[in-house]
Amino acid sequence: MKGIILAGGKGTRLYPNTIAVSKQLLPIYDKPLIYYPLSVLLLANIKEILLISTPDDIGNYEKLLGDGSRIGVHIEYKVQDKPRGLADAFILGADFIGSDSVCLVLGDNVFYGQYFSTILSQARQQAEEYGAAIFGYPVKNPKEFGVVEFDENNRVISIEEKPKKPKSNYAVPGLYFYNNEVVDIAKSVKPSKRGEIEITSINNSYLEKGKLHVTLMGRGMAWLDTGSPKGMHKASGFVKTIQEMQGFYISCIEEIAWRRGYISTEQLKIIGEELKMTDYGKYIISLTEENQ
Ligand code: DAU
Repeated sequence: MKGIILAGGKGTRLYPNTIAVSKQLLPIYDKPLIYYPLSVLLLANIKEILLISTPDDIGNYEKLLGDGSRIGVHIEYKVQDKPRGLADAFILGADFIGSDSVCLVLGDNVFYGQYFSTILSQARQQAEEYGAAIFGYPVKNPKEFGVVEFDENNRVISIEEKPKKPKSNYAVPGLYFYNNEVVDIAKSVKPSKRGEIEITSINNSYLEKGKLHVTLMGRGMAWLDTGSPKGMHKASGFVKTIQEMQGFYISCIEEIAWRRGYISTEQLKIIGEELKMTDYGKYIISLTEENQ
């Protein structure tokens, strides 16, 4: 399975923060926002990754992440000249995806919780068996998201994009697993009223064919909003609190790469030395000592 991170967009809801800097490069506490969705792909055992961003910003992502070899993966880059909509990821990424299945994660989505790796490997399997696997997460403000509608037997009957009258409080987070059909489906999606080719149209297309699996996430999972300055501040506070209380870091990409065996302890040590002036670097060094 291949992985795509969509990290473009204008970030207007965060202006003036994002006039000169891409939203997904802003920090959530001690690391750039992009580390969080990248860590989701690493946890899903996806090592071939395409990062999509704007013509202005793509170079900064390359500067930050390079070709991925530092963390034992392969990262390619693609420019999206205009924010045409989330489904564009599969059109821009068609050659990269080839004949494979694919996971899309939005560059501004932060997940954290117990058994998340298990949830990810199940979703991967479901997409390969059913066609598509997405999630539902209970929120107080469903109007701002894609929303799942259920019938009386709790079967999913539709997904609506930013409905005025949401039919449930289950939002669809920005994490989607699809089989290879997604490329053709994306090419046939027509722009919505807001002029975007919507991921929700792709999900409804799978649903109509009886090929969409929706897993509801419960209390044990955190899906954090980074869509506003308040959301980013709260997400930073959450990461800081958990890291200080538990001593485990959230979305430390180097740690995940090491625990998954993508890089050796020696390689991890070199990264830790480079970053040793920060707590983040000291944490990485402490991991290498744990293994001695
Ligand atoms: O976060 C989950 C929600 O993401 C879903 O519930 C919605 O169904 C889905 O449409 C999407 O809604 P948003 O309004 O949050 O999408 P937004 O336009 O903010 O874009 C999400 C991320 O994708 C953001 O980091 C910018 C990036 N993006 C967006 C578009 C439209 C791109 O890179 N290219 C694009 O063309």
